[in-house]
Amino acid sequence: IDLSVDLGFGKVLPNPLMTASGCAANGAELHRFFDVSELGAFVTKSVMADPRSGRGTPRMAETPSGMLNSIGLQGPGIAAFVDTDLPWLASVGARVLPSIAGSSSTEFAHVAATLRASRAFEAVVGVEVNISCPNVANRGLVFACDPGASAKVIALVREQLPRDVPIFAKLSPDVTDITSIAAACVKAGADGLTMINTLLGMVIDTDLMRPHLGGITGGLSGPAIRPVAVRAIWQVRQAMAEGRIPVVPIIGVGGVRTGRDALELVAAGASAVQVGTATFNDPTAPVRVLHELTDLLVEKGYRRFSDVVGAAHGSP
Ligand code: DOR
Repeated sequence: IDLSVDLGFGKVLPNPLMTASGCAANGAELHRFFDVSELGAFVTKSVMADPRSGRGTPRMAETPSGMLNSIGLQGPGIAAFVDTDLPWLASVGARVLPSIAGSSSTEFAHVAATLRASRAFEAVVGVEVNISCPNVANRGLVFACDPGASAKVIALVREQLPRDVPIFAKLSPDVTDITSIAAACVKAGADGLTMINTLLGMVIDTDLMRPHLGGITGGLSGPAIRPVAVRAIWQVRQAMAEGRIPVVPIIGVGGVRTGRDALELVAAGASAVQVGTATFNDPTAPVRVLHELTDLLVEKGYRRFSDVVGAAHGSP
């Protein structure tokens, strides 16, 4: 079976499985469990201009259907990232999709320009532009909820990077009409879309009678949000089929634990799939899902992965 995925501009990945941003910082943690170069691409934790410690603790809460986090974009800052993390990923042969974030469009541009200047930039197969973090005093969601603000960030980032490096706008599910944000991003120069970031949620500690998370609200991930991801991917793919959004690849993310879960996002329209929260129970989840998905496609008689992308929409 041919599992290859064309991200555009000649960036062809050997398979469609990726890590989801934030669930493994720079890859070294997961590399203890499997070879991260086996994945189609490795997506890093969103990196901003300066080092950040993030929000106060506790920053994680488990619920029966998923996990909430209010990390608040903790990270080393772009200088340390290009100095240490990116060269390490390059040294183990990973194809890297760095995730970048900013609290203003100029910060996004600065992070993208610094990345571009990195000596390990040849390992970068694309850049994910995180305009949808729910945990930075609402700044992140301000971008992803506003087509104009999203478009401005995307256009500025696009200018900083070479034309053959595709950029993916990561969208929030917390919007009334995700297709209008998707359209604004693609028209501003996004070469693809990643759907979805976490869903804004909250947990209350009923012993303390207080919000559990230090950040009060947090982002919900895991099985609970898979149907939300499927819906968002389906709607955007449909809008592309109807000519309301130029056709670009979609990277699906949200509650994937098995090969069959991955296939659901692919059938809705995703050309690649990220695995995040599932790695907390099983650090090998991204490669396990790759093998399960491969077996499932072979069993169903597919010869090429690309034939199943969007298959649930029926023939045009
Ligand atoms: O749920 C999330 N948490 N999404 C993001 O985009 C960032 C992350 C964080 O650091 O808070």
